[in-house]
This record gives sequence, structure tokens and C-alpha cells, in this order.
Amino acid sequence: MLKRVQHMVQHISKDPGKGELPAKENRVKNDTFLKACRRESVPYTPIWLMRQAGRYMKEYMDIRKKYSFLEMCRTPELACEITLQPVEKLNVDAAIIFADILLPLPGMGVSLEFAKNEGPVIKNPVRSEADIEKIRIIEPKEDVPYLLDSIRMVKRELNGKIPLIGFSGAPFTLASYIIEGGSSKNYIHTKALMWKEPLLWKELMEKVSEVIIRYLNSQIDAGVDCLQIFDSWVGCLGPDDYRSFALPYTKKVIDGIKKDVPVINFSTNTGAYIPLVKEAGGDVIGVDWRIRLDEAWERVGYDTSIQGNLDPVVLFGPLSGIKNRAKEIIDMAGGRPGHIFNLGHGIIVDTPVENVKALVDFVHELSAAK
Ligand code: CP3
Repeated sequence: MLKRVQHMVQHISKDPGKGELPAKENRVKNDTFLKACRRESVPYTPIWLMRQAGRYMKEYMDIRKKYSFLEMCRTPELACEITLQPVEKLNVDAAIIFADILLPLPGMGVSLEFAKNEGPVIKNPVRSEADIEKIRIIEPKEDVPYLLDSIRMVKRELNGKIPLIGFSGAPFTLASYIIEGGSSKNYIHTKALMWKEPLLWKELMEKVSEVIIRYLNSQIDAGVDCLQIFDSWVGCLGPDDYRSFALPYTKKVIDGIKKDVPVINFSTNTGAYIPLVKEAGGDVIGVDWRIRLDEAWERVGYDTSIQGNLDPVVLFGPLSGIKNRAKEIIDMAGGRPGHIFNLGHGIIVDTPVENVKALVDFVHELSAAK
């Protein structure tokens, strides 16, 4: 076990992760990210990266060789260590808790496994009225206690250096895993339920939304400074289906969050109807690279912050391309307060870590010089 983790384990065994945190306003030293969420002016553009902890990093793989992904999530000492790896290596302006959008599933009575190289597998997918009725509404303290302990441990280790982001899936994206039984290409079961059984869809989405509200509010109680909602797959819907079958539930979740932290509403493939995504809510709208950042922001409206949106494949190099693309995005933000630099989706496995580090430095330098 790594040295810092041993130290933390000793620390935690004396105080099982429930110590008092300092007053909120004193918590974060580098608050450029939180300021950008609130559209306040900042000395440079803050940056963090979706999937900044993960398999592209040697330090992650060293731990991953010994533990399964779920063991890593369920062991606060490991989750804490992994959360901090990119903070130390990359100089990012926010940390994101090492966890997963699928962690609430077992507590809902839905099985969850990660098969080798296949991603998530749900052996009892939810497709019928009886399946939906059986879904339990989680009690985060009982069902995901390890996540709340991880958050408390990371906050203590960060000691106010940078903010910590908590997260969940959005109702549509989470429901799609539960219905399909894993990742999907065409979402046939999901759309079939949605179109053929709209009342059952509503019943399922109400339950999933309530689970997500509890999951997110428990993360606020444990100390996160911001929340991101991942609607990674909702772009498989056209605008009218988004409006009828996804938007009301994402809105319900965002409205159900205790208002003391900013919320990032992230989705992909939704550029064609980004104003509808904004209708669902959020202090920040996260966009992918399939829409220009300047166009996205104009259509979202300048009363809301924007996050994004470099194509993750740009990070495979060369450095000159990374720099040029970063500059283009910073220029598209036009010096307005409220831009958070990120990729348009998560870092891809095999991305050279030195290129990721170079991106963070480019964004800091280029935006500070403006
Ligand atoms: O961003 C971070 O650094 C925090 C960690 C994080 C993970 N998953 C860790 C993870 C976050 C924010 C997520 C969110 C997540 N999980 C999403 C939404 C984001 C997105 O990419 O659109 C989704 C759809 C999931 C569900 C999920 N988890 C899938 C489909 C997979 C398998 C595919 C893959 O990338 O391996 C996972 C596993 C997963 N979640 C890994 C990590 C680091 C890889 C696990 C491993 O080491 O094998």
C-alpha cells in the first residue's frame, strides 16, 4: 500500500471519516473553477478533465493490477489515492471523486458487475412493470457509505487546495444502463419502453430521479463543492423525445439538489437542441466538440456558464495541434467570465499523459496572457 494511504488509514481509524470540515468560505484556496461556475471573473481559464483519473495513467494501472474497478471504488483509501493522482500530476483546477454513475445500482436491487474488457454488465435488466415496482429507493448512508467516506477523506487530504466535484448519471443515461443491461449502441429496449409504455417509463424515471437526488445530496452533505450530472447518452434522442422523455426528469433532479453548490449539466450529441438542455437547468452547461463553443454559448445564453469542449482525440498529439486547438476554444469563449475548459468527453485509454499535462499548461498560459 502506498505511503500516503497508510497514513490516511491510521488517521481514519481514529476518526472514521466524520470529522468537521472548516467553514465553507474558508475551504478552497484555488477557487478559479468555482468562480467560473458562478460567472465571476478569473485570472485564467480553469481546467479539469472528465476521466482525469484512469487507465491512461501508470499510477492508476499500478493499483488496477491488484484490485477490480469496483473494489477500487468501494475502498475509500484507494478511491482517495486515485482521485488525487491527476491533481498531483496535472495541476488541474478541480478534482473529481473517483466513483461511477452506476454505483447506486446494487442498492436499487439491480445487479452490477464489470466484465473484463466489456464494461458494465447488469444481469437482471429492468423491462417490465414488475421489475420497475421492485426497484428500491436508495439510502446513501447505507447503500454507498464508502463513497461518502471517500469524499470526506479526499476533502481532508486536499485541505482546500482545489474544489472537489461529485457526480451522478442523469436519469436518461442511468435508466438506459438499467434497461439495456449494459452499454448499448441503438438503445432499442430503452426507446421501446419509452414509446410503447409511457406510463411505465414515467414510473421508472420518477424512481431513478429520486435515487439520483438522494445520491447527489448525500455527496453535498459529505463535502463536495460542485456536482456534475452526466447525460452521456441522451443525444440518441431527437429534440421532441428529449423534451418529453428526458428533460422533465433531469430538471426534477437539478431542482431537487440542495442549492449550495453549482451544478454542471453535461451531455453529448445534443448540440442540435442545446437550448432544451439548458431548460433542464444547471449553472454550467457542458458541451462536446460536435458543436462550436461560441455557437453553443450563444444559444445557451450568456447568463449561464459553459464547459468544454476539446475533442479528446486531439490529445494523441502533436503538441502544436493541442496548443492551436486549445487557443481556438479559449478565443471562442471571447474573454467572457464563465468558461471552464474541459474535453468534450472523457480522456481515452492510451492518451499520452505528457500531452494531457501540456494541455493544462497551455490553457493556463494562453488564457492568463489575454
Ligand atoms: O472523471 C473521473 O476521473 C472520475 C471517475 C469516473 C469514472 N466513471 C471512473 C471509471 C466518472 C466521472 C465516470 C462516469 C461514468 N461512468 C459515465 C459517464 C461519463 C462518460 O464517460 O460518459 C459512464 C457512462 C459510466 C459507466 C461506465 N463505467 C462504463 C461504461 C465503464 C466501462 C467503460 C470504460 O471506460 O472502462 C465504466 C468503468 C470506469 N469508470 C472506469 C473508470 C476509471 C474504467 C475501469 C477500469 O479500470 O477498468
